[in-house]
Amino acid sequence: MPDCAADLGELHAYPTADGSFSLQSDRFGEAFHNSAGARNEAQAKFALPAQLERFREGTPLRVLDVCVGLGYNSAVVLEALPTPPPELEWCGLELDHRPLDLALARQDFRSSWSASVLQVLEQIRDHGSWRQGGSNGRLLWGDARTMLGQIPGRQSFDLILQDAFSPQRCPELWSEEFLAGLAGRLAAGGRLLTYSRSAAVRASLRRNGLMLFSLLPAPGERPGWSSGTMAVRPGAPIPDGGPGWRALSLMEEEHLHTRAAVPFRDPSGTDDSAAILRRRSMEQDGCSLEPTNAWQRRWRQDSTG
Ligand SMILES: C[S@@+](CC[C@H](N)C(=O)[O-])C[C@H]1O[C@@H](n2cnc3c(N)ncnc32)[C@H](O)[C@@H]1O
Repeated sequence: MPDCAADLGELHAYPTADGSFSLQSDRFGEAFHNSAGARNEAQAKFALPAQLERFREGTPLRVLDVCVGLGYNSAVVLEALPTPPPELEWCGLELDHRPLDLALARQDFRSSWSASVLQVLEQIRDHGSWRQGGSNGRLLWGDARTMLGQIPGRQSFDLILQDAFSPQRCPELWSEEFLAGLAGRLAAGGRLLTYSRSAAVRASLRRNGLMLFSLLPAPGERPGWSSGTMAVRPGAPIPDGGPGWRALSLMEEEHLHTRAAVPFRDPSGTDDSAAILRRRSMEQDGCSLEPTNAWQRRWRQDSTG
């Protein structure tokens, strides 16, 4: 397990609006969740649009949790599995063991999960792997860019939960290359879910053959023009609207043709965030795409009549 104190910097606990607690990282200057509620957000953006009822007993469900943190996203997925549950094959990527340690040290966090989900989180903390009935999982501690490559090439996933810090703060986990690596792991019909509505992220996912949908806000979240993205590897037909998602609006489609859609590039998979942001800024300056503030102005005028 790596010594990560330097990677996330100091971590500060704070309460979110639904009563669940979350953390703020000094080094990234960002909270782990939006203030509407850590658990609400995990439920609305990850468990709901996953449509877990599609996975019945005897059907495998393969899940990749990118940036496990406090474990909310996987925990809500585990809690929402149908009964009897599918056989879950779970893999998690995370740099720092402290968020899960801090979460499991709190009684309010522990008492918010069923005994079996709590046991899974404890096994991850203590052993980096877990087994329960026909299900199992392991957490690969380290930089997700490197650890993704350690998952056997033949392994693909039905669900990828991508919950890295924002693209401006952690561009290394939103780069064209890293997203291509994730997209390449999606099985036919597989869904990548993320809170990010970034045009750069969406454009990278679309270039990698995925269909894009927009996520609806979590309860208590201030509604904006989008609350995240579901990206689907074509497989069985999927409707334009479903639990927690809708089709991209014209405004969102046009966003993908602005400078905001210039991708984060990290060709070696080892650059730091400053180098990736610099490279993108230079590419934006030299490109002929519409400036993003012109797109913003155009849509503001349209919505005010
Ligand atoms: C927004 S938080 C994730 C929240 C989490 N999904 C939850 O439900 O609590 C981002 C996480 O990314 C992790 N992280 C940051 N850089 C990373 C990297 N290069 N590789 C793997 N994990 C990273 C941080 O340690 C942090 O736990």
